[in-house]
Amino acid sequence: MSDKVKISLGKESHEFPLIKGSENELGIDIKDLRSRTGLITYDPGYKNTGSCISDITFLDGEKGILRYRGYSIDDLANNLTFLEVAYLLIWGELPNQKELSNISNEIKKASSIDKDLEQILKSFPSKAHPMGILCSLTSALISFNPSSVDVSSNEKMFRASIELMAKFPILVSWVHRKINGLSMNKSDSKFSYTENLAQMMFKSSDDYKPNPIIIDALDKLLILHADHEQNCSTSTVRIVGSSHAGMYASISAGISALWGPLHGGANQAVIEMLEKIKADGGNTKRYLEKAKDKNDPFRLMGFGHRVYKNFDPRAKIIKKTADQVLTKLGISDPVLDIAKALEEEALNDDYFIKRKLYPNVDFYSGIIYRALGIPTEMFTVMFALGRVPGWIAQWKEMRLNKEPIGRPRQIYKGHNLRSF
Ligand code: SDX
Repeated sequence: MSDKVKISLGKESHEFPLIKGSENELGIDIKDLRSRTGLITYDPGYKNTGSCISDITFLDGEKGILRYRGYSIDDLANNLTFLEVAYLLIWGELPNQKELSNISNEIKKASSIDKDLEQILKSFPSKAHPMGILCSLTSALISFNPSSVDVSSNEKMFRASIELMAKFPILVSWVHRKINGLSMNKSDSKFSYTENLAQMMFKSSDDYKPNPIIIDALDKLLILHADHEQNCSTSTVRIVGSSHAGMYASISAGISALWGPLHGGANQAVIEMLEKIKADGGNTKRYLEKAKDKNDPFRLMGFGHRVYKNFDPRAKIIKKTADQVLTKLGISDPVLDIAKALEEEALNDDYFIKRKLYPNVDFYSGIIYRALGIPTEMFTVMFALGRVPGWIAQWKEMRLNKEPIGRPRQIYKGHNLRSF
């Protein structure tokens, strides 16, 4: 097969090289398309456009494959802690025991937040959405840390990554405690990374002991959300960082992008949808018809995906974990039964089959968060917490690859020159 493609325009024809990925996916390298032909491409939502070359995460949407640094998501989610997977994403290899205890100790040393930041948190109204608070506090972290990171310095990059990995779970637990009118819990170095997150979020007395069922479920959920190649929020982190804005500022922008209900905000929207169906007598068929009706703005939240045209491998693991966690915790949640009924009906409905719409990562995750005692408004914050190592890794790769500032072109359809 040729390693070039030919584009013909009138009598002229131009050849452009093909780029082949390590899983044999192909892309047309059009870096000099405009300078050679005067043409640009038009691709709203970048459905057919590769923005970068990356060696962090591989997805195959047709086969439902997801790998971080070559390891399958099943192997990672079923055998490792979130901190080990975060290390893999940021530094490219799984940590040995020495590397893991070093990063764990460094994070424990950095697990405190300036008192002034607590004042900023306290100034938010009690009804503020936690994603808005988190985005502001992440930006505010810049005031207490270097505004820009010298990405070519391993030491400075290591420091900035440790700081963010250390402070983010504190921000998440603070936001949770604040919106629920609870006092703040401090970080406690006797716990592991995920146990510490749980104790900061849930501890109500000094004899708190982490529940291994909850810790295992949190590790799995955070691992499953840790990276997902060039999704909307990661592309935001990369394009903001491409202007050489700092890592914290870029990640703060990523949090805003993730908040949208078509993206990370879907996990909150799924539970709100399931609750509505439950309140409406569990009439799943009526909501399926609404989702198919073009005149009805209602969509089946947690279904469909830009890349997966098969099962989202994360959804399969989360669905199994939801069953296990609810059984082990002795919880029966009618909303889980409604979700399963909805999935069953949609998977046998021509509308969904024809459009290859399957449950995605957000369809079942909220059911586990709920069982762990996390309120619905905090679900997307938990998604953001999981995604932090992916955002750090992607931001670092973009900067080390010295990618140019992101600046798409457009097709102008406005007024021609008018007299003033
Ligand atoms: C995440 O990109 C990532 O990797 C994201 C993510 C990550 O880890 O970072 O995986 C996390 O964001 C998961 C997606 C969460 N969002 C939702 O669950 C919201 C509901 N899903 C949809 O809004 C939609 O499926 C998207 C936004 C996820 C994808 O939209 P696309 O790729 O732009 O597809 P589309 O909107 O053009 O839909 C194609 C067709 C349309 O019908 P036709 O015009 O062809 O007749 O499918 C229909 C859509 O109307 N459709 C749906 C539907 N999703 C798509 N119809 C009903 N319910 C849905 N959920």
